[in-house]
Amino acid sequence: MGDNNKKATQDIFEKAFNYTKADEVKELGLYPYFKPLEATDGTIVEIEGHEVIMAGSNNYLGLTNDPRTIEAAQNALTKYGTGCTGSRYLNGTLDIHLELEEKLAEFMGKEACVLFSTGYQTNEGSIQTIAGRKDIIFSDKDNHACIVVGTLCSNAKTVRYTHNDVDQLRMFLEKADPDAGKIIISDGVFSMSGTLAKIPELVKLAKEFGARLYLDDAHAVGVVGEGGRGSASVFGLTDEVDLVSGTFSKSFASLGGFLVGGREVIEYIRHHSPAHIFSASMPPANVATVLKALEILKEEPWRIERLHEISVYMRTELEKMGFNVWTSQSPIIPVVIGDMMACFRFWKDLFEEGVYANAVIPPAVPPGQSLLRTSYSASHTDEHLDRILEAFRKVGIKHGIIDQNGHSGLEG
Ligand SMILES: Cc1ncc(COP(=O)(O)O)c(C=O)c1O
Repeated sequence: MGDNNKKATQDIFEKAFNYTKADEVKELGLYPYFKPLEATDGTIVEIEGHEVIMAGSNNYLGLTNDPRTIEAAQNALTKYGTGCTGSRYLNGTLDIHLELEEKLAEFMGKEACVLFSTGYQTNEGSIQTIAGRKDIIFSDKDNHACIVVGTLCSNAKTVRYTHNDVDQLRMFLEKADPDAGKIIISDGVFSMSGTLAKIPELVKLAKEFGARLYLDDAHAVGVVGEGGRGSASVFGLTDEVDLVSGTFSKSFASLGGFLVGGREVIEYIRHHSPAHIFSASMPPANVATVLKALEILKEEPWRIERLHEISVYMRTELEKMGFNVWTSQSPIIPVVIGDMMACFRFWKDLFEEGVYANAVIPPAVPPGQSLLRTSYSASHTDEHLDRILEAFRKVGIKHGIIDQNGHSGLEG
């Protein structure tokens, strides 16, 4: 019956069969990903029976193993059970979801808040809902992947501007259809470089061109700004930013995400976002952890101060050794190695020296700029930090990334 004529000549799985890179790196013993942690206290972790200092987590305030967050999670488990088995829209709203929304809106200085089950879903689900067919999104090229996916899932036109290049953004805004609805979207603190967005300039452009401004503060809430209130607060511009998203997987020691903003916009997203309506809500233990973490964050400002002190110390010391740390302004401090395989070899030796950092390779960074992303926690002691620095110094010299005199081996 000619069925064979319709048989596909291309197997859709072909790309997977041809993907050998991970196996090749594994065979060389250099594969740095999916390493299972066998034990952790948040700062010291055990991997392959080897105790190492964690210098790659986003546990900024050191609350993942705090007895108070653990107790709050345990109490919520006992009271509400292990899961909500439904979306917020239907059977999955608990009283503590509402309590958290109210407290976060107040903390962030906005009218309203909506929770999502991850930070990823927050951006993906909010952007596609708020930006429609006749709208234009202006998105920084270094924005997180979930923002990129959110723009792709929306029906809006998206214009991507060069990272933090506000002159180029102005040019794109000038050229854009004046009648289109517009929104500028940027990470508040960029996840790989640790740099801050140029928020005063973004606010100015948004006002001038009648655009809305949306910041992703995943790495900013609990880290920068007054009492950890995020990136706009660094500049005293909280009231000038329309929407701010965040995650609970970093400072808040849990899992989930949130969006804060004006009441009408949050209500619209709450009732229209597929990621909110068609996905189960945050489990009780996660919500209770965040409520406790928020309380601790307010009561113990020393955590943010210590984090800031650590960031300055590590950035200064790594730079003094000759490492290229880009333009970090936060506890995310990248250490540029260059070639991808060189980065894996560096990672391995650093691990052998007792330090875990994250190997970041293209496309997350430009080609030839593979790096070790280090990030710090208020629970790192001075001794931990000096051990991390000593390991970087030793491995850096061995690999020719720096020399004994504090010069970069990558220059020229
Ligand atoms: C800038 C940024 N936004 C959003 C997310 C997503 O957060 P989550 O881990 O809660 O999905 C991340 C996580 O790495 C991030 O770095």
